[in-house]
Amino acid sequence: MSLAAQKARAAQAALEFGESHMTTGLGSGSTADIFVRLLGAALENGALENVKGVPTSENTARVAREAGVPLIAVDQAARINVAIDGADEVDGRFRLIKGAGGCLLREKIIAHASDLMVVVVDETKLVETLGATDLPVEVDPFGFTITAGKIYEALTASGVTRPDVRLRSYGDGANPFITDGGHYILDCACQRLSDPEAVAARLTAIPGVVEHGLFLNTARAVIVGEEEDVCVLRL
Ligand code: 5RP
Repeated sequence: MSLAAQKARAAQAALEFGESHMTTGLGSGSTADIFVRLLGAALENGALENVKGVPTSENTARVAREAGVPLIAVDQAARINVAIDGADEVDGRFRLIKGAGGCLLREKIIAHASDLMVVVVDETKLVETLGATDLPVEVDPFGFTITAGKIYEALTASGVTRPDVRLRSYGDGANPFITDGGHYILDCACQRLSDPEAVAARLTAIPGVVEHGLFLNTARAVIVGEEEDVCVLRL
């Protein structure tokens, strides 16, 4: 089965977490996009009604509009019942790396504001130890080279050997990637994060760091699309 089919399986199973009259945080990325389209279909065929979405990115807002999912602005949402979002890595304690799509700040705000965060992934995202994929860190453009140096120091102090901290950019590297919030992303190749909590604490303490892609103690359920099946894991 292709990864796309695994993602679709996970997204389909996530619909079970949706109920009529709920406000739902809509994550970003290809798996979350599938969920949003399925949610739109469920609203259209009457399986669900009166669901409102709070998007975590401009792209997700566009997908939701196309799919017919009514949106409300985050500041109009008195309560977010559930957030459904993808991840780049998930470990056995449901600790996540997110942000390959550059939406980690809004994703984290919505995940933390939700009563329940549900992660939808294909099985390649499950890892024993976080860190094989880059850890994205969203930073203010002002002084970003200074911030990058501080991030390098924070990572080495947390046991990462020679991390590679790079500005995310387009194509030939001439244009920095700009997040929906107007920030830069520094992608940190770490290979292995043996103490994600220490990394998170050190990154958070750096002026210029807006947010980092470690989601610790946030997800309460992980839905894994597999070859033949789908697996719903709960903490
Ligand atoms: C975007 C994210 C995505 O949720 C993450 O990158 C997973 O994406 P996909 O479902 O396309 O594999 O964190 O910032």
